[in-house]
Formats: sequence, C-alpha cells, structure tokens
Amino acid sequence: MISKINNLFSEISAFSAKNNDELESFRLRFLSKKGLIPELFEEFRNVPAQEKKEIGQRLNLLKEAAQEKYNSLKSDLQSTEKSFPDDDLTRPSYPWLLGSRHPISIIRNEIIDIFTRIGFTVSEGPEIEDDNHVFTKLNFAPEHPARDMQDTFYISRISPEDSNPADVVLRTHTSSVQVRVMENQKPPIRTISPGRVFRNEAISARAHCIFHQVEGLYIDENVSFADLRQTLFFFAREMFGKDTKIRLRPSYFPFTEPSAEMDISCSICGGKGCNVCKYTGWLEVLGCGMVHPAVLEASGIDSKKHTGFAFGMGIERPAMLKYQVNDLRLYFENDIRFLEQFRSAF
Ligand code: PHE
Repeated sequence: MISKINNLFSEISAFSAKNNDELESFRLRFLSKKGLIPELFEEFRNVPAQEKKEIGQRLNLLKEAAQEKYNSLKSDLQSTEKSFPDDDLTRPSYPWLLGSRHPISIIRNEIIDIFTRIGFTVSEGPEIEDDNHVFTKLNFAPEHPARDMQDTFYISRISPEDSNPADVVLRTHTSSVQVRVMENQKPPIRTISPGRVFRNEAISARAHCIFHQVEGLYIDENVSFADLRQTLFFFAREMFGKDTKIRLRPSYFPFTEPSAEMDISCSICGGKGCNVCKYTGWLEVLGCGMVHPAVLEASGIDSKKHTGFAFGMGIERPAMLKYQVNDLRLYFENDIRFLEQFRSAF
C-alpha cells in the first residue's frame, strides 16, 4: 500500500492542467467519491493494526497534497483565463509591469508640446559647459556675482591636457544653449531648450542643487516686446488654464534688456489669495526679456538687423503646483511609491 501511495504522490505532483477539462479529470481521478484516494481509504480499513499509524499519516498527507494541487491548478487557470485568451501566441509570457513617466518629464513634455505647436524647435546642449557659454557670451561682467563659487559648480579639470581648468563649469542655466544655437544658426531662430542645471545651493524642501529649466529664444527681424508678451500669454493659458492672467514686472538679467519677470494668477486660489501664493494672488514663473544687442553680436548676429526675445523657467515649480507636491526633494529620490502615482499620456 505504501508504494501505491508513493506512486500517487508522484503522479499528483507531475500533473498539469491546461484547461478546465483537464482539471476536472484530475478531480475525478483522485478526489471524487469513486476516485483513487477514497478507494485507498477503503483499503485502509484492512491494514493490520501495527501499520495503521504510519500508513494512515501518509494517506492523510496524500489527500492534502491532492486537494492543494487541485486548488492551485484551479487558481492558475482562473488567473490566466482572466488576463489572456488561451490561443494568443503573441502575448508576453507574463503581464508586463508598466512604468510611469517622471513628473518632471511629464511637465517638460507638456511645455515642449505647447511651444512646438507655435513653431518652436527643441535644442539641447551640454551640461558640462565652459564659462564662455554660460556667462561671458551672455554679457555677464567679469566680476558678476553669479560667477561666484556660491552659485556655480566649477570643475577643476576634465582632462589632464586641459590648459584652463577654471573655465569648466556645470551650467547654471540653459541660457548657454541659446548661445550655442546663435553660434550655429542664422535667424530666424525659434527654439526652446529644456535641460538640467546645477547651482551650489543648500538642499531643502524648496531648493535643490540640481533642477530643470526650459529656455526659449526667438530671433528675427522686427521681433518686439509685444511678441514676447503674447507668446508668454499663450503659453500661460495653455499650461495653467484658459482663465490664467499674467503680469510682467521689470527685472534684471545681464543678457536681456529690457528684462522682466512673469507672474501668473495663482492657479490654486484663482487669484483670491492662499498660502501657496502667500496671499498675493500671483505666482512667479519665469524670467524673460529682449535679447541684449551685445549678446547677439557676441554670437555673430547683426543686432541692427535682428532683434529677439528670450525667456527661461524652472520645471520643478510648475510641477509642484500642478501635482501639489510640497517637497522638491521627492522629485530626486526616485522612490517608486511616489513615481507610481504619475500616469500620463505624455
Ligand atoms: N537664465 C535665467 C535664469 O536662469 C532665466 C532667463 C532666461 C531670463 C532668458 C531671461 C531670459 O534665471
């Protein structure tokens, strides 16, 4: 009898069921009233008393194993039935776990989408830059405080042959791409440059030493401040909703003249005042201005013939607003529980 039980053990563990009919045949063969296991229980009555203990235990184990096998075959069949039709040979062998885009990428793509709809191209440039593209050609005076070590990460040396190591920096803004585009293209230029930038700031809920920007540049004949304003107004309404108002405040950047900062009406309270806009009703979103003639000339563009505007914005701030994220650091930790919450068409 022991060998009969052992044979059934191996038969049960080797059994596989591709469909419900096969599952049913398993039940009939082993578990049903007339099946092999109840039959063995019948036989068990005639087992001599001294063997009863050992055989009885073994038999019970067999019954349990058969029942467990039946349950697991059944649940396997149910889960495959639910997710896939049986005969689709092209399906992957298991359900793919789909990732989601990073929230910063979602917002960046949204910004790119808005500007490409009105004829802007996308350009990119290096994150490790030279002082020339980040500062000098953008009209930063040699002693300008933004060149100070407190803001800029200097790379002392990128290769042993590098004769002027102090010139190499991590770009502090994507305006450096603006210079590269002007060096290589003739007007009309209409481009945006999204990218990662670096500033030597203490990391907190509201600031990080790495963040993202999108810079925009438009150069042609007769480009005016009104063109800048209207382009940004279009952008603000597309990005933050059609009731969004904008306001431009005078500001200063070495590479634009005149310069301004743009605020949008607070998208959280609609301008009534809340703690996000610090009860002002306005949120600062970007810097902008007319490209300084010295910047055009430094990159070989005739400033008598051409004018242009530029603007630059961070991506983290609108992303925080849109997703109501109150700690910037979450964007850089890549905790999957955070990232999983962002599903998007972009
Ligand atoms: N580069 C500026 C910054 O990082 C933003 C800016 C870009 C302002 C273009 C004006 C024009 O703050």
